[in-house]
Amino acid sequence: MVTTARRRTPPDPVPALPAPGRELATARDGRLPSLRTGPTQLDTARPAAYTSIMSVHPASTLLLVSGSVRRGSVNSAALATAASTLPGGWQATMYSGLADLPHFSPDLDTDGGPRPVLDLRAAIRNADALLFSTPEYAGTLPGAFKNLLEWTIGDTVMTGKPVAWLNPSTAPRRAAGTYQALRTVLAYTAARIVEDACLDVPVERGQIGADGVVTDPDVRRRIGGSVRALTASAPNGR
Ligand SMILES: Cc1cc2nc3c(=O)[nH]c(=O)nc-3n(C[C@H](O)[C@H](O)[C@H](O)COP(=O)(O)O)c2cc1C
Repeated sequence: MVTTARRRTPPDPVPALPAPGRELATARDGRLPSLRTGPTQLDTARPAAYTSIMSVHPASTLLLVSGSVRRGSVNSAALATAASTLPGGWQATMYSGLADLPHFSPDLDTDGGPRPVLDLRAAIRNADALLFSTPEYAGTLPGAFKNLLEWTIGDTVMTGKPVAWLNPSTAPRRAAGTYQALRTVLAYTAARIVEDACLDVPVERGQIGADGVVTDPDVRRRIGGSVRALTASAPNGR
């Protein structure tokens, strides 16, 4: 399951349209913040010329993957903040199917895998770049998130994808074990780690606003810098 927010910049010489507004809300089940596009009439009332040019220059997609399924997750908030700093021409998609993935087994990995796995792989395939953020559990990756990564290894879906992570840990060791493990596992996926975009950015729960986005301007600025480095490194990055 994925939720998508768009930020489109109409390419010249298309007459300027107001940018779609964006709102950030907590998903109804409260598990993950979800991103919704703003006024939908912009999509339906768009002039034909605008529509056709947009289809020649479709928005690039940043897939956000949180390693936490808990309500009020700091990691998910860091990713939601990343979505709110997207450059023009990009849209963000928050992956929210982590809890629905079956335990990885090669025996299940036939015909593309079970439905949740097909959805995961499609979301990755359609993404131009991926941004992760994960807590550390017992010194390493949460099992659920490692499981997600395992589903990507027997498939070439991650090969060459630009990826990076935000590490919002405030713990003394800054969750070093989990991000070292993430680096190790990503090497097996053949993803391309964009080092300049990987960021340690401590986030306190009190810095998360009611809309699920970090309010602190310095944290937002730093996360925005990470997003810019990642999106600029994508093949059709802007
Ligand atoms: C079972 C359990 C194990 C944890 N192990 C670690 C750990 O090894 N290192 C650490 O820095 N934090 C550890 N934590 C703390 C979480 O990583 C921390 O609460 C994190 O902010 C959770 O992220 P979230 O808000 O996105 O879910 C652990 C928490 C739990 C519940």
